[in-house]
Amino acid sequence: MEFRHLGRSGLMVSEISYGNWLTHGSQVEEDAAKLCVQAALDEGITTFDTADVYAGTKAEEVLGRALKGVRRESLEIFTKVYWPTGPGKNDRGLSRKHITESINASLRRLQTDYVDLYQAHRFDNETPLEETLKTFDDLVRQGKVLYVGVSEWTAEQIGRALKIADEMGFDRIVSNQPQYSMLWRVIEAEVVPLSEREGVGQIVWSPIAQGVLTGKYLPGRQPPQGSRATDASGSAMIARYMNDDVLTRVQELRPIADDLGLTMAQLAVAWVLQNPNVSSAIVGATRPEQVRDNVKAAGVKLEDDVLKRIDDVLGTVVERDPAKTVSPATRP
Ligand SMILES: NC(=O)c1ccc[n+]([C@@H]2O[C@H](COP(=O)([O-])OP(=O)(O)OC[C@H]3O[C@@H](n4cnc5c(N)ncnc54)[C@H](OP(=O)(O)O)[C@@H]3O)[C@@H](O)[C@H]2O)c1
Repeated sequence: MEFRHLGRSGLMVSEISYGNWLTHGSQVEEDAAKLCVQAALDEGITTFDTADVYAGTKAEEVLGRALKGVRRESLEIFTKVYWPTGPGKNDRGLSRKHITESINASLRRLQTDYVDLYQAHRFDNETPLEETLKTFDDLVRQGKVLYVGVSEWTAEQIGRALKIADEMGFDRIVSNQPQYSMLWRVIEAEVVPLSEREGVGQIVWSPIAQGVLTGKYLPGRQPPQGSRATDASGSAMIARYMNDDVLTRVQELRPIADDLGLTMAQLAVAWVLQNPNVSSAIVGATRPEQVRDNVKAAGVKLEDDVLKRIDDVLGTVVERDPAKTVSPATRP
């Protein structure tokens, strides 16, 4: 495994991290979840990402149990707050009340005294930014949270938060967690340039486009049984990529991966890691073999001619519009 700084902070994270969205507490049984976490640890992954909302709060519990007994200092545990965790008006968003209640519940479920990174899962248009940032700062002072970050925020929102933090002396955001893959490059135009200037690192999600970039979904064919595209909640999430144009072009990436002696999943993960603003690529997995496959992307260098071949193959199916980074106008 290789390690990078989380943005300009002193915290080191594994280049490849393991995340449990749609898997722990839902698509996969607890035994399989534990085997995936064990495979991640065996392969040198030290950074684990979850969220209060995943599997209706069950994912944090599964991860807490799977990591029990592992030396806490050897791990970086990340979680998030924003999406609903209960039926009430205050069970969501980034108010002082919800953040304070949610971190306490996350720490209980994860069986830890602190998380290494606490992330605002989206921008909350119904809470003053000062209220959110002051609350995050308080959690840092209380020792419940070591670093603060955001997820899917625009460059304008990140810039505004950094300005307030500097003016008020609050702890600064060190990271953003956006979707980023060969197929989804919307952070490149605005978020990455601002983040580079400000020392904010990207912890990117769905680097394999939820499994699509493994090449296992063939155009015009039924998805393989047990894959995310056949899962009750996963199929809606992956639907964006399940069209023949995307799937045909993805098949054309196979010779590029073959020439490099990489699997297609490894090529996809290596691709996001070529961007120096990326601190870590969060991979998901339903089986330990997937973790063992994906981690081999750490440290792989892709030359410019390879990057060009990839761009030529994918052409117009790549999404680059920065306006695609959006948080709900009102709380969900
Ligand atoms: N901040 C946010 O808003 C946000 C949103 C989404 C995700 N995330 C984070 O990012 C993490 C990763 O997201 P993701 O799960 O979509 O990432 P991903 O790595 O792009 O996709 C993971 C899925 O692809 C399939 N897969 C992975 N490796 C494979 C391999 N080698 N061969 C065949 N299939 C393989 C598996 O699904 P199947 O076996 O079921 O096909 C696996 O669950 C999440 O767990 C979460 O921590 C954050």
